Amino acid sequence: MTALADEVAAVEADGLGRVAAARSVAELRLVEQELVGGKRSALALLNSRLGQLDVEERKEAGRSINAARSRVQAAVADRAEKLAAGERAARIEAERLDLTEVIERRHATRGHRHLVTQARDELEDLFVAMGYEVAEGPEVETDWYNFEALNMPPAHPARSMWDTLYVRLGAAESTLLRTHTSPVQIRVMQSQPPPIYIVAPGRCYRRDTPDARHLPVFHQIEGLVVDRGITFGDLAGTIEAFTSAYFGPNIHSRLRPSFFPFTEPSAEFEVSCIFCEGRGCRVCSQSGWIELGGCGMVDPNVFAAAGIDPEEYSGFAFGFGIDRCAMMRHDIDDIRHFIANDIRFLEQF
Ligand code: DAH
Repeated sequence: MTALADEVAAVEADGLGRVAAARSVAELRLVEQELVGGKRSALALLNSRLGQLDVEERKEAGRSINAARSRVQAAVADRAEKLAAGERAARIEAERLDLTEVIERRHATRGHRHLVTQARDELEDLFVAMGYEVAEGPEVETDWYNFEALNMPPAHPARSMWDTLYVRLGAAESTLLRTHTSPVQIRVMQSQPPPIYIVAPGRCYRRDTPDARHLPVFHQIEGLVVDRGITFGDLAGTIEAFTSAYFGPNIHSRLRPSFFPFTEPSAEFEVSCIFCEGRGCRVCSQSGWIELGGCGMVDPNVFAAAGIDPEEYSGFAFGFGIDRCAMMRHDIDDIRHFIANDIRFLEQF
């Protein structure tokens, strides 16, 4: 063996060791470059010295260099494959997305009915349980249903109790957004003969500037009873039954004389303050009572407009704010919360 052949064997042995020790494809490529990579690689340098040998030696040394190169290249290829496979596996593991993971949510994202809707449904249920039916009327009304049939002829001063939004339709100020649910009374009386026991919940509109207690769009529930022999006592008893059913057995009602054109006599009904249960507090101005709505015995002029004989029938009516009921029951201090669409508020109910 020539000295060159010894060197080839030494380079190969060292090279195979470094190939085996390479920890990454990148490192392996550097080792490969140094061993067999080009004119300046270890085996190329040995190859360049072949010229110094005589013919026989040159042949033998040439063969051993080629054989060494083949074995090194084979070892590189083998090691490269293993390293690449390992690196690929590591990358896949690192980039893995676990699509089966179940994310536990602390709050269910399912929606629910708005608090005002819940209050409306509950009030409906309560009256249905007392034998009432639920009626509806249009939100865009005529002046006749909203005012005139309710005993308020044109220019009647009581009309100023309701700041009205008019719709540009037909004759000027003939069509409007209903300012209360009372026109449904007329529509029901026109469409069915007594006995009538109905409640009519729905949206109402007034030209009001929003503040803590007012919105231009709000909700009322109207009640109407028409039958033979209906008295003011029936009205008071009905209001009391509704009050304790909705607000709780400790909450009671009282009626105070008032005026509405469509009822005679008329009353405001108040419920004992749910915050202090009637003892007197800041919310009720120390009176122990909070005003909730209006009511009274149906005025004979209203019966006449709706085609019902006031000699044969009598009746009572009432109307109050649904929004305000919900505010009282849930201690909500500003009606504007209902329409602010703040999920943190809505989620509480
Ligand atoms: N419609 C009245 C309002 O909006 C409330 C009202 C008062 C309704 C007396 C009635 C009633 O049915 O009899 O202010």
